Amino acid sequence: MCGIVGYIGDKKATPILINGLLSLEYRGYDSAGIAVIQNNEICTFKDKGRVANLQKAPELNNLTSNIGIAHTRWATHGKPSKENSHPHLDNSNNFAVVHNGIIENYNELKEFLSSKGYKFLSETDTEVIPNLIHYYYTNEIFEGDKFLQAVKVATNKLKGSYAIEVISKLHPDRIIVVRKDSPLVIGTKATENFIASDIPAILSYTKDFYLLDDYEYAVVYKDHVQFFDNTLSEHSKPVKNIEWDATSAEKNGYEDYMLKEIYEQPNAILETIGTRLKLGENCCFDDIGITKEYLQKINKIYIVACGTAMHAGLVGKVALEKLTHIPTEVDIASEFRYRDPILNEKTLCIFISQSGETADTIAALKLSKSKGAKTLAISNVVGSSITREADYSIYTHAGPEIAVASTKAYTSQIVLLIILAIYFAENLQSTNSSVLNNLKNDILDLPTKLETVLTETENIKDFAKKVYNETDMYFLGRGTDYAVSMEGSLKLKEISYIHSESYAAGELKHGPIALIENGVTVIGILTNPDLVEKTISNIQEVVSRGAKTLIITNQNITNNNFDFVIDIPETNNLISPILSIVPLQLLAYYISKYKGLDVDKPRNLAKSVTVE
Ligand code: G6P
Repeated sequence: MCGIVGYIGDKKATPILINGLLSLEYRGYDSAGIAVIQNNEICTFKDKGRVANLQKAPELNNLTSNIGIAHTRWATHGKPSKENSHPHLDNSNNFAVVHNGIIENYNELKEFLSSKGYKFLSETDTEVIPNLIHYYYTNEIFEGDKFLQAVKVATNKLKGSYAIEVISKLHPDRIIVVRKDSPLVIGTKATENFIASDIPAILSYTKDFYLLDDYEYAVVYKDHVQFFDNTLSEHSKPVKNIEWDATSAEKNGYEDYMLKEIYEQPNAILETIGTRLKLGENCCFDDIGITKEYLQKINKIYIVACGTAMHAGLVGKVALEKLTHIPTEVDIASEFRYRDPILNEKTLCIFISQSGETADTIAALKLSKSKGAKTLAISNVVGSSITREADYSIYTHAGPEIAVASTKAYTSQIVLLIILAIYFAENLQSTNSSVLNNLKNDILDLPTKLETVLTETENIKDFAKKVYNETDMYFLGRGTDYAVSMEGSLKLKEISYIHSESYAAGELKHGPIALIENGVTVIGILTNPDLVEKTISNIQEVVSRGAKTLIITNQNITNNNFDFVIDIPETNNLISPILSIVPLQLLAYYISKYKGLDVDKPRNLAKSVTVE
């Protein structure tokens, strides 16, 4: 977490750095700071609180420098405070560093530096980095580029994860950057270069990017960038043109990114379907290189992810098992990586990550590869770490997702997983083609049906107004409806801070029903025709104990005991989550609005969790 930005070029650095930080706040927002080189000195401005706070500092207007680095923080080591804010300087004020990640051995490094007389002003792990650079710069004899060598020797001492930018008043014409397990991109133009934790932060300036690899160093000058490996041997790197439109990373008149992203779902689904699925043709994933021979060998699939992406995996599991008959399990990445999973060359591990940078997901992927499994990454970000690590990669085309609470990425991940399951089934001939054709028809109808669901917004808003003061809510469903109820419950927790839980409806009577009392809100999702009667019975059990109920359904429910019913269009049960989640996203959104909370930047959360 934490967001970093850098600029070197022919313009004033400060406004570009501040703009970049504003768009990276989803990665952390408890303090912010910038450092520029002005009049041969490093000038830093930093404070706790949001970037808007920093922006108010009148001194910023006096900064005319063309080179600078900046940071927005999500505290890991040390509370949010001015002292702990980045950038951090070495004791001689020659080097300034911003860092995203965690230095696991910082205590050991701190002891080493303290023994050499260095003093520390913050509680952060980061502060060891500029001091280490200073130590090696002044105490070791280097041939060639002393600055780069000192950064390299210093970073080689670090254990953990990092994306680092370093500037030095002794070398005011360059920014040195390096990464390991934390994201970093360089946007490039003829006479200026931009650095950021993600692409949207600098997309309004350029569409040409270099994507840095782990242990790769870049020395970024105004008009060119040099790349070095960990032995400091120089190499060239191709520029990647990013198709995203800069305006797609703006709010476009919506009050919040989350609402905009909820409304973008019809288009995100359309784009993700793309040319992969066409009526009358087999689904097309031939570009990813999975051979029919390999598909026939697979005897186990794992879907591994975190948070919302894991919830998308729960729906994907149902589709994969139903259409391919290959046993499929879903695992939370942080559990999977430590539970010594049984994997071999017949195992396909699918990793889902919107950002492609989630530390636990990347670690789980590396583990799977080391155990001989084949790995397939599903991400929304071209060139992200998981796509570079995996044997095969496919992309959702949801466009940039900025709000911390994921919406359009989730529905796009589900649609892509289901098209993939159809593709596998077609190759394995494991499901009757008329069943697959019907499903394809239903998938192609999704964008229109999503538009219909979105017309329910006012009704959902009404319900949100009735319940926003509640302290507990329960979500119930069976099958894919249970998967959706988990995601609905997560959305509510994330942005409204209301305690909520989801249960498989049949499990209710085994304990949770003890929590149901007069006035408690229960939300039921009922889209599976085979299970609807059973779930209705479970919901009746809570109604008779005084619960207030909201039902999301595509079935003809005659019972009128329920307080609120939102009707959504009927579709195949495998893909109904793509429709039934939308009212729950809107519910969480409006409850958060009624409570006056910051929807896009919920407390304690960050969009991309690049630490363990
Ligand atoms: C964080 C975010 C969640 C997201 C999860 C996984 O916890 O707050 O919204 O679902 O990370 O992110 P990924 O980028 O791997 O999908």
